[in-house]
Amino acid sequence: MKKDDFILKEFIDNAFDLKSHLMEFLLIEEVDLDRFLENAKMDLANLHPGNNLSAAEDFYKEIVGDKHLADLAAWHISSKDYISDTLKLQQRFSRNLVLDFGGGIGTHALANAMSPNVEHVFFVDINQTNRNFVEHRAKKLGVSDKLTFCKTIKETKISRFDTIVCLDVLEHLSDPAFQLDIFHEIMGPNSIGLFNWYFYKGEKNEYPFHIDDEQIVEKFFNTLQSKFIEVFHPILITTRSYKKN
Ligand SMILES: C[S@@+](CC[C@H](N)C(=O)[O-])C[C@H]1O[C@@H](n2cnc3c(N)ncnc32)[C@H](O)[C@@H]1O
Repeated sequence: MKKDDFILKEFIDNAFDLKSHLMEFLLIEEVDLDRFLENAKMDLANLHPGNNLSAAEDFYKEIVGDKHLADLAAWHISSKDYISDTLKLQQRFSRNLVLDFGGGIGTHALANAMSPNVEHVFFVDINQTNRNFVEHRAKKLGVSDKLTFCKTIKETKISRFDTIVCLDVLEHLSDPAFQLDIFHEIMGPNSIGLFNWYFYKGEKNEYPFHIDDEQIVEKFFNTLQSKFIEVFHPILITTRSYKKN
């Protein structure tokens, strides 16, 4: 079996041992983990400060704690088809030095670290619990040597990335256009960025932590359309690949 196919199969079979990693990391039994995963989404929405943007900045840094691990884990386990399409997408583009910005529970960073096309992955996440958890997972999966964990892009001390993965993060930032400017600065002419966004709080405010302000969103699209050009891929329509314009 080809290495890429093996990685996808491992994700579909057991999400790269996600449940065992959670039980070890959170020191809980399977039955408690299942309850934790079931309640995750509501717990997270209830914690959120609403429309106050500076509080929203602190949300992922200070407030979420273990709740966000559970929320992301429940999502990755219940949406395996979608997540495996995003893994197929990064298999098509990822190479050499990879930045995973807002890497969450590490599915994409770990899969990239397993790829022979990737030299090193820099996992950047503002949330320390996420960084510690993915570090634990990397050790368990034997890919620690190919991963570095940082709180900010600056901490990576890398000035050019060949691939940037930023999935389901931009709608969580108070100024997503500014984040695109930063990505633009650290991409070379052949670098590829994989980005998606969901600037919507949901019909019933299921995602109170998403940015949906019209001006912020318009500024984002102005920056995207002036600084980047899309590179077509046939894999999934919600996540787009870009090079510098
Ligand atoms: C919805 S999760 C997405 C996780 C992962 N990319 C995925 O697709 O499963 C958003 C992630 O972005 C991180 N995040 C939010 N604001 C950030 C920031 N300013 N810098 C770095 N990470 C951030 C959060 O801690 C969280 O792990």
